[in-house]
Amino acid sequence: MKVLIVGGAGREHAIALAFHRSIYSPKIYCVSEMINPGIKRIVNESGGEYFRGNINDPEIIAKFAKEMDLVFIGPEEPNFHGVPDKLEELGIPCIGANRAVSEIEMSKATMRDIQWKYKIPGRLWYKKFRNYEEAIPYIEEYAESIALKPARQAGGKGVKVIEDFQVYLQDEKKKVKIQHAESIVKDYMKDYNMEYKLLIEERVWGPEYTLQCFTDGRTVLPMPAVQDNKHAFDGDLGMETGGMGSISCGRTLKYGIESDISILTEEEYWKSVEIVKMMVEAIQKETERRYHGVVAGQMMLTSIWGPTIIEMYSRLGDPEAANVLMVLKTDIVEICEAIIDERLNTIKLEFDEKAVVVKAVCPEGYPNNRNLAKGHIVKVHDDNGILWASVDLIDGKIITGGSRIVECIGIGDNIPEASLMAENLCHKVELEDGWRVFHRSDIGTEKSFKRRFELAKLAREIYQYRERRGLLGRRVIWIPGKGLMEVG
Ligand code: GLY
Repeated sequence: MKVLIVGGAGREHAIALAFHRSIYSPKIYCVSEMINPGIKRIVNESGGEYFRGNINDPEIIAKFAKEMDLVFIGPEEPNFHGVPDKLEELGIPCIGANRAVSEIEMSKATMRDIQWKYKIPGRLWYKKFRNYEEAIPYIEEYAESIALKPARQAGGKGVKVIEDFQVYLQDEKKKVKIQHAESIVKDYMKDYNMEYKLLIEERVWGPEYTLQCFTDGRTVLPMPAVQDNKHAFDGDLGMETGGMGSISCGRTLKYGIESDISILTEEEYWKSVEIVKMMVEAIQKETERRYHGVVAGQMMLTSIWGPTIIEMYSRLGDPEAANVLMVLKTDIVEICEAIIDERLNTIKLEFDEKAVVVKAVCPEGYPNNRNLAKGHIVKVHDDNGILWASVDLIDGKIITGGSRIVECIGIGDNIPEASLMAENLCHKVELEDGWRVFHRSDIGTEKSFKRRFELAKLAREIYQYRERRGLLGRRVIWIPGKGLMEVG
């Protein structure tokens, strides 16, 4: 059997490892713009081949895929560019959301429209705009905390949450909101030809988590919930990145395999699964296309709704893929074949009960000055337990690509233990020219886990209070003398 993996980052290294463990011993092939040394080793060991190429070009991928029995698409952009559609046209089995259904990730406006149209729980209040001028009267009028987002998935870039609580600062906050709205349209959206450019959503708070699922369009099989850490520096400080590291343990983000403490309750986990299922059904109904691949809810446990969708992914998250694939017990070949044949209901998806912590090591300059972060030679004496990410193997040297260099994996009986293992691996990564690298030491520590656990508890108290009073998802204010009034 020949399997082609499309993409060459940490997520795809984890995918390649999962195929390499398969009892069917597939020959593994890979295509990506840069050569990932970890995937390259797997490709060589399995007797496959590594191609360099533009993964967003359906014709190029079709050329490499011609001889393959299966194609697994890692990142979102090939989906947005119709690579799965091209492969379907040629009759090549492909795990990847087609162009139409991947719209739930690509267009944040479509995702919210669908959620409201189908009354799917966990829907945030939002407004969409074709240009930033259209948003100005709205920003002037609505002096509240908001999230400003590019209306297209832009690699997580451009999202800004602006807190607006102090009346005496409201004029200044309006200016910041308008400036950022302008920069979203003019900078982040400049290369994308889409009707809506800008989204404004209500700002919510609570612990975030990613719920990744396999789907064949009929069945949605959920994986353990994972919590990513987007901010660049310890304590959730600094710019948002693609993800600095992630934790998982059991289905519900438990503290440890034997522990009763978890960030989510079982009920919240299954409610989240139901929400993702409803999104898959809705997008299939809207597009009249079948969804074959991975779908994920990037969610938050909010005080308004409980499980709430922040964004949707039409693929595995990165680094979240590593959390689930490193402990996946079910054979990935069998999962993929069941997706293609639309009999995913016959698969029992099983994972080792372990805590997994992933920590990314990045070159200084990431995420906002990638040119500085690029072009350094990486030194790692022993890459056991390490997934290679944005690097390129050129003439035997591993060169940084400007984003995350590696993802270090710790697997243990509880999250702090796994965190310590990942932490020790992070210290093995250096750059030959002495250029600095950084990672987050706090991911998965006892203190950080407790902080998120307490945040979940607080959000839960409030959303359950709302639930008991029939106020779930409703925007209400209390006016003295009048009582509760619905707004928005
Ligand atoms: N970890 C965030 C993402 O995969 O987009």
